[in-house]
Amino acid sequence: MAAAALASPALGQDLTPDFYSETCPDALSTIKLLVGAAILREPRMGASLVRLHFHDCFVNGCDGSILLDDTDDMVGEKLAKPNNNSVRGYEVIDTIKSAVNMVCLGNVVSCADILALAARDSIVALGGTSYDVLLGRRDATSASMDDANNDIPTPFMDLPALQDNFESHGLSLHDLVVLSGGHTLGYSRCLFFRGRLYNETSSLDPAFAAALDERCPPAGDDDALASLDDTPTTVDTDYYQGILQGRALLHSDHQLLYQQGADDDLVKYYADNPDKFWEDFGAAMVKMGSISPLTGDDGEIRENCRVVNQE
Ligand code: HEM
Ligand SMILES: *[C@@H]1O[C@H](CO)[C@@H](O)[C@H](O)[C@H]1NC(C)=O
Ligand SMILES: *[C@@H]1O[C@H](CO)[C@@H](O)[C@H](O)[C@H]1NC(C)=O
Repeated sequence: MAAAALASPALGQDLTPDFYSETCPDALSTIKLLVGAAILREPRMGASLVRLHFHDCFVNGCDGSILLDDTDDMVGEKLAKPNNNSVRGYEVIDTIKSAVNMVCLGNVVSCADILALAARDSIVALGGTSYDVLLGRRDATSASMDDANNDIPTPFMDLPALQDNFESHGLSLHDLVVLSGGHTLGYSRCLFFRGRLYNETSSLDPAFAAALDERCPPAGDDDALASLDDTPTTVDTDYYQGILQGRALLHSDHQLLYQQGADDDLVKYYADNPDKFWEDFGAAMVKMGSISPLTGDDGEIRENCRVVNQE
């Protein structure tokens, strides 16, 4: 039991890229189309869909548990601290699920797989390189607010805590640095970067800090947004360049500079090698997407991503 808990979680060997090619050949193109439409309506949605998959996978595996609404009997993940007023995109996933149920003539594609595909399609729509998504995940029949509070890393963590957190999900320091590159997209609220802004001035670019001070005062305006890199709707390596220049928005982003040993300059490596980032980011997303999936007879294919199937 203890040994199993210490070992890496099962990185889903049963998943395959062509899982739906017989049962619903139009599923993937339908999802891609709807993700593209959602991003056209609101470019930030791509970022939000990538993060939704990350927060799903880090809480008991990539099992769609984040999508379950609270019930009288269950307090789920949506209102947990890292997710409440923060995770977005639930309505887009609902729209995709209904459309996919229609084109598949039934309930065939899991919510967990939709999250993995929507993340990939967002990355590609915003300029990243494509990768094959492994499929065949099934959906959880429960969700846990406590697990979401405990298992998702916080932006206030130092590097060792971030590394421990990733290791507990079977992910390495290298994976941490590559996957943090997800912050090439999207925004953070003031309450998550205020501490860095006012208490870490020695590692901040003064012009960058001055611009943010206006938007994120020492008190108030908790919900004011700033982008996580200079180009929040483009998948590129500006995120890593920003870290090197003292323009990391989150404490956790800046911490990536403090690696020790053989891997000590991964931030510089990705800043200098966009091609490597595009390649490695896709591979790392596949690895993250393989955290403890439910397969075989475990779990279910949810008809509606917000509720466990009835009966
Ligand atoms: C390394 C540990 C990580 C920490 C501490 C962290 C923390 C955060 C925080 C605090 C925000 C802002 C939330 C808000 O303002 O409400 C955020 C946004 C975001 N994160 Fe992370 N994150 C981490 C890793 C990742 C990973 C692995 C990915 C994806 C591969 C990712 C993708 C995103 C995206 C795309 C956004 C912007 C979402 C949007 O604009 O809607 N993050 N993250
Ligand atoms: C979620 O956020 C809302 C609005 O900020 C707040 O009123 C509510 O108490 C939060 N819920 C939990 C469970 O923290
Ligand atoms: C800055 O650090 C001090 C001392 O640790 C703490 O009391 C204060 O709340 C921090 N300020 C912000 C904005 O986080």
